[in-house]
This record gives sequence, structure tokens and C-alpha cells, in this order.
Amino acid sequence: MQVIPQSSSIGAEVRGLDLAADLSDAQFEQLNQAFLDYQIIFFHGQKLSSRQYNDFAQRFGRLKDYMFAEGIDGFPFITEIVKTETESESFGSFWHSDSAYTELPPKITMLYARQIPPRGGDTLFADMYAAYDDLSPGLKASLESLRAINSASVVPRNEDIYREVKSKNSAQRDQYAIHPVIRRHDETGKKALYVNGIHTLGFDGMTRAESLPLLEYLYQQVTRPEYSFRLRWQQDTLAMWDNRCTQHYALNDYHGYRRVMHRIIVEGERPR
Ligand code: SIN
Repeated sequence: MQVIPQSSSIGAEVRGLDLAADLSDAQFEQLNQAFLDYQIIFFHGQKLSSRQYNDFAQRFGRLKDYMFAEGIDGFPFITEIVKTETESESFGSFWHSDSAYTELPPKITMLYARQIPPRGGDTLFADMYAAYDDLSPGLKASLESLRAINSASVVPRNEDIYREVKSKNSAQRDQYAIHPVIRRHDETGKKALYVNGIHTLGFDGMTRAESLPLLEYLYQQVTRPEYSFRLRWQQDTLAMWDNRCTQHYALNDYHGYRRVMHRIIVEGERPR
């Protein structure tokens, strides 16, 4: 297995593994370590059935139901994310960490490229360890005790985004969860910034108006180019990212073309 770093901050390509074959425990350990080290890893040229994809994901933990979309036939945990030739909105086109509004947000999201546009449709990733590390000692100390309210429907354009997928229950958009602003990764022990511009409503115990100036500052920090990595998908690329210490942004720059991704989320622990 070769692990090829993609930027000075995050992202690595993993070569030399066929994910359709069973991984040995040693291979799995090496892969998991690369995942923890690089926060987003990807594999090009993987030919996987839905069963093989599901089985690979299960090695990393319990698969989690995505509350806003049904799974594909026979695979309740594989959600199809599609933007068609005639649609203008795309799923996930804002900086965020997945399902931060749930009590147990997914530790991992996997995305498997079934069909990609001839150009565009890349995904950007940002390193939330670095975003935290570079804050001043004073701001770090102030944020340490803060918790934030993360909602499934903070920003009105969520409505358009979730209309694209088959909604199970619109009442679930009222879902929210309160999590620390700085979370400690449960495997690496490192601290990461954990607020995002689409789900974080405000700091617990403060109004949104009081919260927004500081949140806006933190969102600028999240999107500093130095922390980012851009994944150019190929057909049959599989990527997996760590929602505990990254944010991502799906570029919506391929109007007129179809993009089909199969998504799986793996349950995480309560952020602390
Ligand atoms: C997501 O936000 O989970 C989807 C990202 C993408 O489609 O690139």
C-alpha cells in the first residue's frame, strides 16, 4: 500500500489496494492510520458492487442512517446523491461537517463516484485541526468552554437542497444538537474547530445576533486556502473523510452534466 500526500495540510491518495478484496487486519490498521493521519483519503479505479462497498465501509464501524434520504434498493445505508443535467442545485455546496445537528454525528463519510461530469464537480476539503491550531491562545481559551447549537435547517437554502433527495420526514429538519465548539478527536486526541456556516445556529446561551460576529470570524478561518485540498474525482474513485476534523464543499460548477455519487456514513461518538 502506498500513501501519497496531496498537500502540506490534508489529503492522501492510497494506491495498491483493491477494496473489493477482503483487507487483512494488518492492511486495515495501516489504512486506518493513513486515514487518521491525512483526514481525507481516496482511491482511484475501484470496481465495487454495492455489497462490496457496503462491506468495506462496515470495517470502520456501524453504518448510520441518513435521515433525509432513503437508501438504494437492497442497501439502506447507501444513499444516492444525484445532480441531473437539468438541475441547478447541488447537494453539499457549502462548507460543512456532515450531520453536525445529530447527537452522534458520523465520524466518516464515504463517497463513491459512479458517474462524474467531464469537468468540474470537484470536492474541497479543509483541515479543522489546523484551523484550531492557528487561533491565538486568547481565542482558544475563550472558545474552550463554548458549545454551539447545530440545526438541520439553519439556512433557508437547505430547503432547496433537501428537495433534491427523497425526504423521509420533513419534520426531521427541526432536528438540532448542542456540541462543543472545540472538539477533541476521540482517536487522535487532537483538538479541532467544530462549527460550520450551514448548520451552526449560534452559541448555546447566546442569541444568534450575539454569536454571529465571532462565528463569521471562525468561518473565515475554516476556509483559509492553506488548510484545503481539492479532490478531482474520476469514475470509480472512492473517498472517505473524517467529519471530526474536516469540513468539505462540493463544487456546483458542472451545469448540464450528470453527477452520481453513492454515499455511506459511519456512526461516530458524541463530540466532546
Ligand atoms: C457531501 O456533502 O456529503 C457530498 C459531497 C460531494 O458530493 O462532493
